[in-house]
Amino acid sequence: MSDLAPAAVQGSHQELALPVRCMSCGATHDGNHPITTCPECSGLLDALIDTSRSLRPDAFAATPGTFSATSGVWRFAPLLPAIPAEAIVTRWEGNTPLYADPRLASYAGMDGGQIHVKHEGHNPTGSFKDRGMTVAVSHARAIGSALVACASTGNTSASLASYAAAANLPALVLIPEGKISTGKLAQTIALGALVVQVEGDFDIALRLLRDLTADGSVYLANSVNPFRPEGQKTIVFELLDQLDWQAPDVIALPGGNLGNTAAFGKALGEAYETGLIDRLPRIATIQAAGAAPFAAWYASGFDRYEPVKAETVATAIRIGDPASADRARRCIERTSGWVVSVTDNEILEAKAHIDRIGIGCEPASAASLAGVRALVASGEIATDASVVCVLTGNLLKDPDAIADYHLGGDETRRSANRPVSIPATMDALKRVVDDAIRG
Ligand code: F0G
Repeated sequence: MSDLAPAAVQGSHQELALPVRCMSCGATHDGNHPITTCPECSGLLDALIDTSRSLRPDAFAATPGTFSATSGVWRFAPLLPAIPAEAIVTRWEGNTPLYADPRLASYAGMDGGQIHVKHEGHNPTGSFKDRGMTVAVSHARAIGSALVACASTGNTSASLASYAAAANLPALVLIPEGKISTGKLAQTIALGALVVQVEGDFDIALRLLRDLTADGSVYLANSVNPFRPEGQKTIVFELLDQLDWQAPDVIALPGGNLGNTAAFGKALGEAYETGLIDRLPRIATIQAAGAAPFAAWYASGFDRYEPVKAETVATAIRIGDPASADRARRCIERTSGWVVSVTDNEILEAKAHIDRIGIGCEPASAASLAGVRALVASGEIATDASVVCVLTGNLLKDPDAIADYHLGGDETRRSANRPVSIPATMDALKRVVDDAIRG
């Protein structure tokens, strides 16, 4: 599997194997060593991708015997950093389904329109993080890092644990103590990472880790790292491919630390500049009301930014000071997008609906559908629009949230599906069956 040859960047940066550019001061640096911020101004960095040539969809054809045949990330190598094939660590990530179901559009108040859901919960560790992690851990391996690390609300940690184990590298993860779902904690422990529970929230854990990794001795795999968002761009490339490169009107996704929003903006820009699509969809980033500093910043016309103390049932996006807010702002401005917040109740009802129609996702993921419903109600999204909601994580990521909703005894939960208990007799069982048939 060595004939994968990602495109090298042309022109003045040709001498740099993995060029990165500071999004604040514009300086270009070599990404061939651990680097997450600009050495000159501390701004965040973007991997530089050549978009000067036009691309046709057949540039992404899967070639048997290469990673492009098995990985829904590396298939898009012409728009990814040129990491040497021998360093690549892949778990057959990506290639996730794009479902359409009229009950989704109906729930959002868009009976004349169409909603697809892109289900990233089908990735190897159950979330979209695997797409970013195959690129980050491959980069770490290419540059010879000895330890990879992240701060996490649970999904990044599980993904890093898995890819680090695949690469035979030790992984360190910092998590906010008592604030991530039991499922994600269990997954991360089982996959062998060194788990450090920090007394404090995600924002504090990430700050601590950024200080620890500043000298480059430990590889930082959070999405402030310029290589991780590169893998996450492929969510957009793949959904466009599944739609035959006809851009939808809107792509909606949950926003926490905002690496994914930033990655989506970069992906759309690159797809547009290389001629793969002829118009930009509008991005809708949806935050939980108790963790919505980006939505508040957007509402102020991107004038006043204030971090918040975050609280929400959607623990994956329980983040009060998103590290990629500036990059995500660029995406919202470029695509004339929206940033809105939805209540925990709206998230849980949207989730119950997605679950009930047989698709299923974790709470944070359902924010995308709840947000689209809100944007339709406010008239921002037309009822006949075409929308893709990204479901970022698997249903089984957060069983506690499911038990609370369905078994918690809260009578206001409209879709609660409580198990019935019966004595072990045929009569009792038949009564249940008769009731089920009668509906
Ligand atoms: N959805 C899920 C399921 C997530 O796990 C996350 C982030 C997001 C949405 C938000 O994405 O941060 O790029 O805006 N989870 C991170 C983690 C923070 O540590 O697992 P974002």
